[in-house]
Amino acid sequence: MYRDIRERLEALNKIGIALSSETNLSLLLELIVKEARNFTNADAGSLYLADPDKDSLHFEVAQNDTLKKRTDLKPETFRPYTLPLTKKSIAGYVAITGQTLNIPDVYNLPPEADFEFNRDFDKRNKYRTKSMLNVAMKDTEGKIIGVLQLINSTDAQGEVISFHPNIESLVSSLASQAAVAIKNAQLIKQIKAVFEALIQYSVSAIDARSPFTAGHSKGVARYTMALARAINDTHEGPYADVFFGPAQLEELNYAAWLHDIGKIGVREGVLDKRSRLSDAEMEALSNRFENIKALAITVTQKQEMASFQGKGENREEIRELDRELQNRISHIEEDLAFIKGINRGYFLSESDLNRLEGIHRKKYVDAKGQERNYLTDAEFENLSVTKGNLTKDEIEEIRSHVIHTQNIVDKVPFTEDLKKVPLFAAGHHELLNGSGYPKHVKAGDIPIQTRIMTVADIYEALIAKDRPYKKSIDPVKSLAILKEEANNGRLDSELVRIFIEKRIYEAKEGS
Ligand SMILES: [Fe+2]
Ligand SMILES: [Fe+2]
Repeated sequence: MYRDIRERLEALNKIGIALSSETNLSLLLELIVKEARNFTNADAGSLYLADPDKDSLHFEVAQNDTLKKRTDLKPETFRPYTLPLTKKSIAGYVAITGQTLNIPDVYNLPPEADFEFNRDFDKRNKYRTKSMLNVAMKDTEGKIIGVLQLINSTDAQGEVISFHPNIESLVSSLASQAAVAIKNAQLIKQIKAVFEALIQYSVSAIDARSPFTAGHSKGVARYTMALARAINDTHEGPYADVFFGPAQLEELNYAAWLHDIGKIGVREGVLDKRSRLSDAEMEALSNRFENIKALAITVTQKQEMASFQGKGENREEIRELDRELQNRISHIEEDLAFIKGINRGYFLSESDLNRLEGIHRKKYVDAKGQERNYLTDAEFENLSVTKGNLTKDEIEEIRSHVIHTQNIVDKVPFTEDLKKVPLFAAGHHELLNGSGYPKHVKAGDIPIQTRIMTVADIYEALIAKDRPYKKSIDPVKSLAILKEEANNGRLDSELVRIFIEKRIYEAKEGS
C-alpha cells in the first residue's frame, strides 16, 4: 500500500523508468499490468490493445492472483482473444470514448449504462469480479491504443473494495506512460521484422544463385537455433551452465542467417561449377580437336598428292599414309573421349593424370603454320585437378566468402545486443584443431555460438541435395560423419552429441 500521494508519485516515476527500458512487447505488456496492479492493490488486471483498422480489441494479458493459486487452472483461461471494438463491452466502451470507468461492482451496473459486463469468465473460473477500474491508454497524440483494466482492489485485510477516485488520474498517467512504451516497443518490433525480412530475402536470393545451395542459410539457421535451445535445456555436461537469453538467441539467429552472405562475392561460375571445364570451354576444346583432325587430313592429302606427282601412283606408299592418318585420327578421337570422360569425374587417378599430361604435351601445326598445344595451360590446370573439380585458385575464391561475410556484416550498424554477429558469422569454417579457415584459430578462440553454427552448417551441407563436388548423403551417414569429425578433433563433440541425442537434425521450420 502506498501511504500518500508523494509516495505514489515516486512509485509512478519508477514504473515509468522500468517501462521505458523494456523493449520486448510481450514482456512490456506483462510489466504494465503487474505494476498497475501493485500500484492499486488490485487482485487481477488485463490489458487490451486496440486495432482500429479491424475494429477489434485484442485481449493480450491477464493476471489474477486468486486464480493463480488454484491448481486446477486450465491453460486456456488466460489465452489471448479478440473482441469487436464496440461500446457494448466495458473495455470497448473505454477504447472508443476514452473515458475512465471506475465501477464499484460490475454486477450492479447503472441501468442507463451502454455497456454490460460479460460474466462468462467468472462463471467458467468460479471467480467474482467486483470493483473495476478501466483506463484508456493514450499515446502522445491522444490516440487510444488500448485499455488497462484493473480488477478487485483489495484492502489490507484482503477484502475487495472500490478503487479510490483519487487514484484515477495517477493510473491514467501510468497508462499514458505505458502507451508510449508500447508504441516504442511496437515500432522496434516492426523495424526488426523489416530488417529480418530483408536479411532473409537477400540471403535466400544469394543462396539460390546456385541450385545446390538454395535454402542453405535457412536450414543452417533452423538447426543452429534448435541446437542453441537444446543447450539451454541441458543441465549436464560441459554446457550445463550455458544459457542463451532472448537477445543472445536473436544475435545467433542473425549470425546463422548471414554466415554465407559473402558468397555474393564469389563468381557464379565457381560457386556452381559442375565439371572441370564449362560447357563453353568444352565446346571450344572439341572444335579444336575437330580442327586438328581436319588439318591432319589436309596434310595427308598433300603428302599423297606429292607422292603421286613425284613417282606416279604408288599404292603401297599411299596406303601407308592412309594408315598413319587413320591412326592419328583415332588417337585424336580417343584423346577427346578421354577428356570428356574425366571432365565430369570426381577423382583423377595417377594413370589418368599421366595420360592427360601426355595430351598436354602433344602439338599440332595450325593452318597458319604455327605450332600449338592440344590443350591450353588453363584447360590443363582445370582438367588435372585430382579431387573434385575446383582448381586451387577457385577453392581459394570459394573460401574467401567468409572474408566477404566479415566485411559485409561488419558494416551493419548492429545494436549493442547484436554486436557479435560478425564474429560468429565469419568464424563458421574454423575448426577446433586449427585446420579450418580463414584464421586457423583453435578451440579456445572459437566461441560456442560459432561452434554451434559450424555443426549446423556441415550437417545442412551434407544432407543437401547433390552438389557438383559431392553426392547428397543420407541423414544416418551424415550424423556418422559429424561424429567422426568430432573424434578427429575438428568439431565440438558435446555439441555433436546433443545434435544427435536431442534429434536436432529433425528440427522443423519455426521450431
Ligand atoms: Fe560457409
Ligand atoms: Fe554455409
